[in-house]
Amino acid sequence: MRIAMIGAGYVGLVSGACFSEFGVETVCVDKDSSKIERLKQGEIPIYEPGLAALVQKNVAAGRLFFTTDLKESVAGVDAVFIAVGTPSRRGDGHADLSYVFSAAEEIAAALDNYAVIVTKSTVPVGTGRKVREIIAKARPDLEFDVASNPEFLREGSAIGDFMRPDRVVVGAESERAESVMRALYRPLYLIETPIVMTNLETAELAKYAANSFLAMKITFINEVANFCEKAGADVHDVARAIGLDGRIGAKFLHPGPGYGGSCFPKDTLAFARSGDLYGARQRLIETVIDLNDSRKMEMADRIIAACGGSVEGKEIAILGLTFKPNTDDMRDSPSLTIVPALQAAGAVIRAHDPIGMEEARKMLKDVTYCDDAYQALDGADCVAIVTEWNEFRALNLKRVKSLLRRPLMVDLRNVYDPAEMIEAGFDYHGIGRPGPLRTDADSRTKALAEGD
Ligand SMILES: NC(=O)c1ccc[n+]([C@@H]2O[C@H](COP(=O)([O-])OP(=O)(O)OC[C@H]3O[C@@H](n4cnc5c(N)ncnc54)[C@H](O)[C@@H]3O)[C@@H](O)[C@H]2O)c1
Repeated sequence: MRIAMIGAGYVGLVSGACFSEFGVETVCVDKDSSKIERLKQGEIPIYEPGLAALVQKNVAAGRLFFTTDLKESVAGVDAVFIAVGTPSRRGDGHADLSYVFSAAEEIAAALDNYAVIVTKSTVPVGTGRKVREIIAKARPDLEFDVASNPEFLREGSAIGDFMRPDRVVVGAESERAESVMRALYRPLYLIETPIVMTNLETAELAKYAANSFLAMKITFINEVANFCEKAGADVHDVARAIGLDGRIGAKFLHPGPGYGGSCFPKDTLAFARSGDLYGARQRLIETVIDLNDSRKMEMADRIIAACGGSVEGKEIAILGLTFKPNTDDMRDSPSLTIVPALQAAGAVIRAHDPIGMEEARKMLKDVTYCDDAYQALDGADCVAIVTEWNEFRALNLKRVKSLLRRPLMVDLRNVYDPAEMIEAGFDYHGIGRPGPLRTDADSRTKALAEGD
C-alpha cells in the first residue's frame, strides 16, 4: 500500500515512520523545506526516543520518503493523511483549521486517483464534512472518500503508543474507505488492537472527549492536592486509594503544576468552543480550563511564598522547562507562566532542561541557561523542580545543599520524599503532602473539635 502524510511534525513524522514500519510505502510531505532537508540528511528535527533509528531503518529499506512536493507524493496513493497543526485561533480559542483546509485544497488540486483523505489532526466535529465539501467543490470529477482517524500518541512514548495503541478510532462512511483503513492498520489487528469503526462526527468528538477527560483527571487531582495540604492528608495515597478502583484507574492522577503541552490546553479550549457552537455547552471543561490556567500562576506564588514572600533580587534555579520529560516541546508548558511571573516579581532565573533549552531560549528571555542542574543551583536562593526529568530524580543532595545559598526546594512534581528531604536538612515544599509549613490540619482539627 502507499500513503502520503501531509505534515511531518510530531504526529506526521511518527505516524509516517510507523506506517512504513508496517510495510506501507510512505511519503512524508512538509511545507517547511528546512525540515525536509534535515530529514533527507538523516537528521530528526524533533526529540522523540527511538524515532531516529526507526526513520533510518525505513529510509534504508526504501519505504519512507520525504518531500516538499505534495503533487508528486499523492500519485497512486491509497490514502492521504492530513497531520498538520490545529493550534488555538487567536482571540476566541476555536481550533484554527486554516492549515487543514489549505492542505485539503492542495490535495484536491493534486490527486488523480481514488484515495481516502484521512484527517489525523485533532479537529472539531464537523471538520471532515467541510474537508469533503472543499475537495468535492474543487474537483467534482474526483472519486474520493474522507475519513477521520484521530491520533492518541503521547510525545515521549510516541512510537510505542502508535505501534501498540489501546485502540484505533476510525470514522469512515463508505465500505471502500473502511477497507483501506482496515488494511493500513492490519498489523494492529494481528495483535488484537480494538478498532472503533464509526462515523466521522463520532471519531472527531471522541478525540476531544478523550483529551478533555484526561485534562479533567489531572485538574481533579490538583484540586484534591490543595485539599490534602489543608487537611494533612497525602495526595499520593488518596490517588492510589482511588486509582486502584477499576472504574477510576490509576493514570493521570499525579498532582503537579497544571497540564500543558501541545494538546490538552488547546483541545480543551476547542472542545468547549465547539460545544458552544452546537448548543451543548461544556461547563465541566470550562471550569477545568479556568482552574488549570490559575494553577500555573499559583505555582509561581508558591515559590514566592516559600522564599518568604518576596523574590526581589533572589536567584531561583528552575529545573525542567518542557511541559513533561522526554520531549523538547515547550508549547503551553507551565514554565512559560511560572518563569515570567517570577521575573516580574524581581527574581533572577537560572535554568536547566536536558533537552528543551534550544526551544526554551526562543520563548523565555533573560534567563541564564545552564549546562546541568548543579550549575543552575550554584548560588541560588531556591530550587524549583518544574519538570520531572529522570536526571533530577537522584540529585546528590549533599552537593545540592552545598551549592544553594539556602537549602530551599519547591518540588512541583513531588520527585522527592518529604521526610527524606527534611532529614537531609532541606526546607522542602511539595504538592499535596503533609509538610511542616503548609499543613493547617492541627488548627482545623482544633477548630472542628471546638465546634467551628
Ligand atoms: N503532538 C502531539 O503529541 C499530538 C498527539 C495527538 C494529536 N496531535 C494533533 O496532531 C496534529 C499535528 O500536531 P503536531 O504536534 O504534529 O504539529 P506540528 O506543528 O509538530 O507539525 C505540523 C506540521 O505540518 C506542516 N504543515 C502545515 N501545513 C502544511 C501543508 N499544507 N503541507 C505540508 N505541510 C504542512 C508544518 O510545517 C509542520 O511541520 C494537531 O492537530 C495535534 O493536535 C498531536
